[in-house]
Amino acid sequence: MEIIHISAECYPVAKAGGLGDVVGALPKYQNALGHVAKVVLPMYRTKFLYENQFEVVHKGGFGMGNYGYEYTVIREKTNLLGFDLYLVDIYGLLDREKIYGYDDDIERFTAFQIAVTDWISKWKHRPDVVHLHDHQTALIPFMMQNCFPFMHLATIHTVLTIHNAQYQGWMDWSKSNYIPDWDKWKWGLLEWNKMINPLASGIRCAAKVTTVSPGYLSELKYDANGLENLFEYEKGKCSGILNGIDDEVWNPSKDEFIQEQYGVEDANEGKAKNKKLLCEQFDLDITKPLIVFIGRLVGEKAADLLPAAISDSINHNEGSMNFLILGSGDPSVEYQLEQMRGAFMGYYNSQIGYNEKLSHQIYAGADFLLMPSRVEPCGLNQMYAMRYGTIPIVRNTGGLKDTVKDFGEENGYGICFNNASVWDITYSVHRAVELFKKSIRVEEIRKQIMELDFSWENSAGKYIEVYSS
Ligand code: ADP
Ligand code: GLC
Repeated sequence: MEIIHISAECYPVAKAGGLGDVVGALPKYQNALGHVAKVVLPMYRTKFLYENQFEVVHKGGFGMGNYGYEYTVIREKTNLLGFDLYLVDIYGLLDREKIYGYDDDIERFTAFQIAVTDWISKWKHRPDVVHLHDHQTALIPFMMQNCFPFMHLATIHTVLTIHNAQYQGWMDWSKSNYIPDWDKWKWGLLEWNKMINPLASGIRCAAKVTTVSPGYLSELKYDANGLENLFEYEKGKCSGILNGIDDEVWNPSKDEFIQEQYGVEDANEGKAKNKKLLCEQFDLDITKPLIVFIGRLVGEKAADLLPAAISDSINHNEGSMNFLILGSGDPSVEYQLEQMRGAFMGYYNSQIGYNEKLSHQIYAGADFLLMPSRVEPCGLNQMYAMRYGTIPIVRNTGGLKDTVKDFGEENGYGICFNNASVWDITYSVHRAVELFKKSIRVEEIRKQIMELDFSWENSAGKYIEVYSS
C-alpha cells in the first residue's frame, strides 16, 4: 500500500510534542511491514532543513481568498529518516522558524492543505491512503471530495488520526472563500456550532477516524470540547490505536543523548550514574527520590497545579524528595516555576524551555515521572519514562489509564490517582516517597516497566488493518 501522511510535525524535522514523535516513527514501521509510507510537512525554517540535502520535485500555484500563492515541494534526497520526506514551501506563510503560535496560523495551514491537495491532484497515479493528522490537515478530505478542482481525488481513501481533540482549528465563516471553489450545498460538512470547524469536517469526511488510545476514544463521547455528539454519531468509523515507542530514538542502551547507557540488567547502576550527573547539574540531592515533570506547561497537562503541589509536598514531607521540571508554555506558570527555585533551593529546580537532549537525560536519571494531565489522548512521556526504568505517577485518564497500572494492584507498576487536584498529587508523591524506601520493590518494578511492550510494530499493523477495512 502507498500511504501519504500529511502533518504539521515530524521528528526530527519539526517537533513541538508527541505528534512529531508519532509522525517521525509510524511511517518507518509501516515501511518495515512492506508498505510505502511517505510524509508531507510544511517547510519551516528548522535546523533539519539547513543540514540536509533536498531536490525540487514540484512547483505550483493556487489562490486563497483574494491572494495568489506559489508553492514548491522538495524531497529529502537520502531517505535519511527511513521514509520519503517532502516539504512544502509557501513564501510568506510557511517560511518561519516556529511550527505554531502565529496570528495567521489559520491562513498558514489552510494554504498548506490547499498546496498539498493541489500537488497530489497533479500526480499520474493515486496513493492508496491519505492519512491526516490533527486539525491542521483535517480539511483535506473535504477538499478532495467537494472542491471542484480536486474532485477527481474523491475516491482516494482518507484516514484522520486525532492526537488531540481540544484543538479544532475553528475558522470564521468569513474565511470560507479560502477553501478552493467548493460545492456550496455541502456547507454542512464544514460547520459545527456556527463556525467552520476543520476537525469536525475531517471526522465527517474521512473514511476512518482513529484516536491515539482506546481509552481516549471512549472519553470523547462525553468530553470532546464540544464535539461529543459528533463522536457518538460517527462512532462506527472510529477506533483507538495506542501509540508506540520508536526504539531507534528511545532506547537507554543506545541513546546518544544520555551520558551512561544501560539496559534492564544494569539499570540500577546505569540510572544511578545518570541521576548523579543530573543532580550535580541541577544542585539536587542524589539520596532523595527524584520526581520530574517534562512537558508543555498548559492546562491540559495540569501544569498550573505544579507550583502548589510541589510546595505542599516539600513542606509536608520535610523535604524528603527532590523535584525537577522541564517545560515551557503558559507564562504565568513558567514564572512561578522559576521563582520557586529560590525558595526551595536544593529540593527543587526547573529549566524553562524546550530541550530534546535534556529530556532524554531526565528520563534516564529520574526515579519518578509525574503526569497529572486533565486531558491526555495518549501520552508518550509515561511510556518513555518506563522504557528508561522511571516509575510513572499519572492521573487515570485517556492513554495514561491504558498504559499505567497502580502498583497496589496485581502486577501493577505505577502510581495512579483520579483527580487533577493538588491533594491527589501530593498524596501520590507521598506514596512515591514511601515506595522509594523499599529498594528491592523499586528494582522489581523498574525491571518490569523496562520490559513492557510498547513497540510500534504492533500498532503500525493495526493502522494497516484500518486502511484495509
Ligand atoms: P504532548 O504531545 O501532548 O505534548 P506527549 O506525551 O505525547 O504530549 O509527548 C510530548 C513529547 O514532547 C515527548 O517526546 C516529550 O519528551 C517532549 N517534550 C515536551 N516538552 C518538552 C521540553 N520542554 N523539552 C523537551 N522535550 C519536551
Ligand atoms: C497529542 C496528545 C498526546 C499524544 C500525542 C501523540 O499531542 O496530547 O497525549 O501522546 O498527541 O499522539
